Amino acid sequence: MAGQASMASKLSLVIKHGTANFIGLHSQPSQFRPQLVSCQVGQPRATVKVMLIAFTNTKGGVGKSTLASHLALWLFDKGYRVALLDSDEQETAARWVRAAEPTMTVVTATEMEVIHRVCTELLAIHDILVADTPGQESDAARTVTLLCDLAIVPLQPSKPDLRAIKDALKNIRLAQEISGTGRPEAHIVLNLTAKIDVQTKSLKKQLQEAGFPVANNKVRRLNALRDACDTAVTRMKASVGGEAARDLDALFTELLGKRLEIIARPKNAEINIGKAANE
Ligand SMILES: Nc1ncnc2c1ncn2[C@@H]1O[C@H](COP(=O)(O)OP(=O)(O)O)[C@@H](O)[C@H]1O
Ligand SMILES: [Mg+2]
Repeated sequence: MAGQASMASKLSLVIKHGTANFIGLHSQPSQFRPQLVSCQVGQPRATVKVMLIAFTNTKGGVGKSTLASHLALWLFDKGYRVALLDSDEQETAARWVRAAEPTMTVVTATEMEVIHRVCTELLAIHDILVADTPGQESDAARTVTLLCDLAIVPLQPSKPDLRAIKDALKNIRLAQEISGTGRPEAHIVLNLTAKIDVQTKSLKKQLQEAGFPVANNKVRRLNALRDACDTAVTRMKASVGGEAARDLDALFTELLGKRLEIIARPKNAEINIGKAANE
């Protein structure tokens, strides 16, 4: 059918452009079964309840791509089977992660039906899918928000950003109403904060009073994070990226700690994709 054919070619395009490490690709989406999953070779394997984590905010410049790239690399370095989906046509996070970790699965997709298909396929063979979204209202941002289990909303502590966040949270509220289960769980993360900052404290209080969950750990405005493109502060020498790495470690552990219940697998365990897909 024409619809199916066009979906097949779209997916095939996305995969060809998006994933350097997928092998054995087929032209039909139903047959699409990557034979490699991205994880650290030779590291103890770990698995968790499969989840899609989205970084979303209709405002640009708040740190979505920076935090999404760092989270994907942080999880990868801990041995999770993690993939990155970049639904922003600017592809900031996709380029970043490809440069930092060429063995990680990275897919770009901006159209609703392609995003849906890619999420299903990648979640069948990965523990965690980290998704970056565009900094504006778009089908891509809405689709990822509807599909995700955890929505992380970076926010710069300024009044204009606070006003704009109400729009960003609309999609999350809608997704929660549709799921009827409270999914996605949502957390606002204060990013680009100053070391001593009365305004941040006051904004955090306002957000909490308005019923928005705000992460306790915030990410300071740090040059190491500004300059981290194509790598991760958590991979840098402590003297260079130490402060920034500590902020991110604390934040990611707070947001994901409970969800990352690790079932360790033996070192060099063979990856059984058929089994993983059913887990
Ligand atoms: N905590 C931080 N400290 C310093 N610079 C940051 C921090 N977070 C993000 N940046 C910088 O801010 C700019 C916007 O970040 P980016 O992640 O591209 O935002 P978004 O994806 O929301 O548009 C980038 O230049 C990035 O390097
Ligand atoms: Mg971005």
